[in-house]
Amino acid sequence: MVEQVRVIEVGPRDGLQNEKKFIQTKDKIQLISLLARSGLSHIEATSFVHPKWIPQLSDAAEVARQLPFIEGVHYSALVPNRKGLIGARDAGLKEIAVFMSASESHNIKNINKTIQDTLPVIQQVVMEAATLGMRIRGYVSTVFGCPYEGQVAVESVLQVTKELLDMGVYEVSLGDTIGVATPKQVKEILSVILQSFPKEKLAMHFHDTRGTGLANVYASLEAGLRNFDSSIGGLGGCPYALGATGNISTEDLVYMMERMGVHTGINLEKLVEAGAFIQKRLGKPLPSKVLAATIAMNRGD
Ligand code: HMG
Ligand code: MG
Repeated sequence: MVEQVRVIEVGPRDGLQNEKKFIQTKDKIQLISLLARSGLSHIEATSFVHPKWIPQLSDAAEVARQLPFIEGVHYSALVPNRKGLIGARDAGLKEIAVFMSASESHNIKNINKTIQDTLPVIQQVVMEAATLGMRIRGYVSTVFGCPYEGQVAVESVLQVTKELLDMGVYEVSLGDTIGVATPKQVKEILSVILQSFPKEKLAMHFHDTRGTGLANVYASLEAGLRNFDSSIGGLGGCPYALGATGNISTEDLVYMMERMGVHTGINLEKLVEAGAFIQKRLGKPLPSKVLAATIAMNRGD
């Protein structure tokens, strides 16, 4: 078992993008500051996509401009195309994440292009971002299943992952966009993928739609993976994947890791503070079990 993992916090982007209630820019900044102070080293802060598609993140530029500087904390933003890259660059970001799906229908629903037509768009973004000295991360969605096509061929996952790595992204995050994966499937797919790519180049991005998220993390850990995406409070979902709910919760992930002796470098108490803050702002209970248990214990329930 690995001794240390890296946690990539995607709550301010993946988490908030699906929330109807608009969170004020100052509250997004407050959330990100609390997260950055918890010891997280990587926070995906927002996305530069069409505001009609994701109204919650229409303040991407304001958020990016006000990110608190904290030594050792990397901030990134999701970008679908050159316009997004320019937005991220102009707002001062040093890192972006590009994304596409392993299944055709989800790719079209999500970014209005076929996989084949998406590749040159991303290629141009990656080349230009590299010239600007930016770090570039990649996502492959629908790795474990597609809301429109069902099962996704592992060959498609391999192909899209290879395209992104060949373009020069430093890591590909493999997304269980609709939270259908099981530990057995994770083991099977990773055993194929790890024959082609080193584990250092991969991250896992589990949505917890059906409650299998942490079990899937454990299966990935056993396969040697050590980069995991998660969302504070378990916020989140993909608005273009039917029934997709939140990512695994950062609090639950960190609790499980630390209790198993796997170092995260993250202070759980501070994380819970961040979770409690955004839960209050959203005005509804979030899915994180550790968040709920800690709040109840502190109240003396
Ligand atoms: P499109 O309509 O095909 O774009 O959308 P277009 O190039 O034809 O341009 C149409 C209009 O959009 C133009 O404006 C452009 O300027 C504008 P108009 O002339 O009509 O006024 N436009 C933009 N505006 C702002 N920012 C931009 C941008 N690009 C063009 N970057 C587009 C294509 C990609 C823009 C659209 O489909 C889009 O914004 N999609 C975003 C979808 C999204 O955010 N999905 C959720 C994130 S992915 C996810 O959650 C999965 C992940 O978590 C992993 C997992 O869980 O598996 C990453
Ligand atoms: Mg996601």
